Amino acid sequence: MLDNKRILLIISGGIAAYKSLDLIRQLRKAGAWVTPVMTGSAAQFVTPLSVSALAEERVYQDLFDLTDESEMGHIQLSRSADLVVVAPATANLMAKMVQGLADDLASTVLLATDTPVLAAPAMNVRMWDHPSTQRNIAQLKADGVQFVGPNEGDMACGEYGPGRLSEPHEIVAAIQTTLSEGPLAGRRVLVTSGPTHEPIDPVRYIANRSSGAQGTAIARALMALGAEVVFVTGPADAARPEGAEVVEVETAEEMRVAVENALPADAAVFAAAVADWRVASASDSKIKKQNGALPVLEFAENPDILASVSKLSENRPGLVVGFAAETDDVINHATAKRERKGCDWIVANDVSPETGIMGGSENAVTLISESGAESWPRMGKDQVATALAERIAQALG
Ligand code: CTP
Repeated sequence: MLDNKRILLIISGGIAAYKSLDLIRQLRKAGAWVTPVMTGSAAQFVTPLSVSALAEERVYQDLFDLTDESEMGHIQLSRSADLVVVAPATANLMAKMVQGLADDLASTVLLATDTPVLAAPAMNVRMWDHPSTQRNIAQLKADGVQFVGPNEGDMACGEYGPGRLSEPHEIVAAIQTTLSEGPLAGRRVLVTSGPTHEPIDPVRYIANRSSGAQGTAIARALMALGAEVVFVTGPADAARPEGAEVVEVETAEEMRVAVENALPADAAVFAAAVADWRVASASDSKIKKQNGALPVLEFAENPDILASVSKLSENRPGLVVGFAAETDDVINHATAKRERKGCDWIVANDVSPETGIMGGSENAVTLISESGAESWPRMGKDQVATALAERIAQALG
């Protein structure tokens, strides 16, 4: 899948550097050539010998190495790749990139390169959250650097939060997307997925049966065609799509905010099964049984995210796709829904219990657009996703 692609892999110093060995192994397995560059501190965490053995290539470390300069100078090194990958990217190296510092081989290569750069940050959660780091990330994004991760989880330092290096398979997926020459290359697509959970009190919530399987499949299919995907998901069972920018939310209101923050996008696919209502005033403490008296829940309507994005005057994605889960009179209801919500397409499906679609692996959909209703045969959710991604690619041209 990465046949003969040339990756210049810059390994900077952090405990996560050990994962770069597996990353190199997976890249080689996918058919890529890997030229490793290590910073001085990276070599404290992982030995250049191991890196070189897995890459089957020499490791470049010093800026002033006469042998290097006579064989391949740093300028040539920086331009000999299809993609420069910085993994792990430390807070320090990213700060240098922002400032344009060139005081070692890694930073010099990053300043001299004219090839795209993909960075996989890894650091302690407080370093990640620090305003300086967040400012630097925003600047690097504005400069065109692409990012994968960081993930949230347990850290080597014993703390918990965002800052963990993405897993090697996630970095490989992001590399594939970045290098893809598919019809959606350079396009940014937003996908919402999964259910939302609307709290009743701190331990109870209202939800629905969405597994998130169709949303994940759509995100993967879009990425396979080269799209950059922002995946906003509620608490779904389905795996998250590797290589997408994943934003985890809980409630419809959180999903609305995450969607707004993800714009602009070329297209948006609203596959989430958003709860239509929330409990108007969720209790801050657990509601107790009261001698047989039943609690009364008052509901409030949730924001309709699809409708509000469809009606945006600024920043409206060029193609807005909604889903309609109906149990009867599917085409008529879905056609009316398209009008009401103001979206371009509705992917309608029959979720009456006898179909087994909700939570199952198959889907039977009808695509409703300006030009009418087109029913697709029943097929796997992956195939529906691929067919939909192809149609989106055609529509975006
Ligand atoms: N949707 C949304 N925000 C909501 C509710 C729904 O973005 N608050 C999106 C869903 O992601 C889906 C589409 O709207 O793409 C259809 O949602 P659905 O719940 O079926 O439509 P409703 O407007 O609730 O219509 P009805 O309940 O009358 O079927």
